[in-house]
Amino acid sequence: MTHDGSGAKEIDTSRPHPARIYDYLLGGKDNYDVDRRAGDELAATAPEVRIGLRANRAFLRRAVRYVVGSGVRQLLDIGTGLPTSPNVHEVAQEVAPDVRVAYVDNDPIVSAHGSALLSGCGTTRNVLADLRDPQAVVDHPEVRQVIDFDEPVAVLLVAILHFLTDAEKPEQVVATLRDALPAGSFLVLSHATGDFADRTAAQAVYNKATATLNLRSRAEVERFFDGFDLVEPGLAQVPYWRPDTPPPPRSGEIGIYGGVARKTG
Ligand SMILES: C[S@@+](CC[C@H](N)C(=O)[O-])C[C@H]1O[C@@H](n2cnc3c(N)ncnc32)[C@H](O)[C@@H]1O
Repeated sequence: MTHDGSGAKEIDTSRPHPARIYDYLLGGKDNYDVDRRAGDELAATAPEVRIGLRANRAFLRRAVRYVVGSGVRQLLDIGTGLPTSPNVHEVAQEVAPDVRVAYVDNDPIVSAHGSALLSGCGTTRNVLADLRDPQAVVDHPEVRQVIDFDEPVAVLLVAILHFLTDAEKPEQVVATLRDALPAGSFLVLSHATGDFADRTAAQAVYNKATATLNLRSRAEVERFFDGFDLVEPGLAQVPYWRPDTPPPPRSGEIGIYGGVARKTG
């Protein structure tokens, strides 16, 4: 890793990138042949993947509305992804125009697109940094320009933690972020799982990518919420977390858990 915590400085178009695979599967245009091939392979091994990623994005929107509706005015979105409409700050600012958002991603393409989108926007920042060094994220001067860790913060770890291997100690990563947060803060998290179907073939697609896919069970995902209290309905497959429309077809097969929790103590 480089001194600023980013995993890569160069844009690598020879291997599929998680952000670009995700963009392709959501119908975006910011991707290359390698990403499209990986996305097609994923869809062949897990036919509901596109529905699942849309459901993940819908979960993210509902969770953002929930935390902002609960009074939080600062969001730290780690693992932002490529811009897709509506973006987190747009969803949040519809509920409360004074919300501030720090976007953090370790992919230079995400960072470049995000900076272009947000240039001149005083209430958001776009930071190139790596979740695997959570203290560097918390201490980053640009994060600090919009996030005051003395006031409640909602940390968004949506579809990112499954890119960390067990050896990268994701539980410690989340604990470091939790310890930086005051009471009244929230954790919004979603995570891929093999609990509903065998996803070994999907994992294999990521073996060629810049990050591996680490599926985790319900109990393993729930442990990330240690020190937080899950709000109703607890950890759920993303379409079933406080749905505001009927769940899409094949929802029962969607291998992504989502949950929102509050730090009380
Ligand atoms: C699947 S996308 C999720 C985007 C968005 N959070 C959502 O759920 O719609 C995962 C994002 O996490 C980023 N990412 C993966 N590993 C990361 C790391 N160690 N540090 C920071 N960002 C990371 C990828 O570059 C990608 O943009």
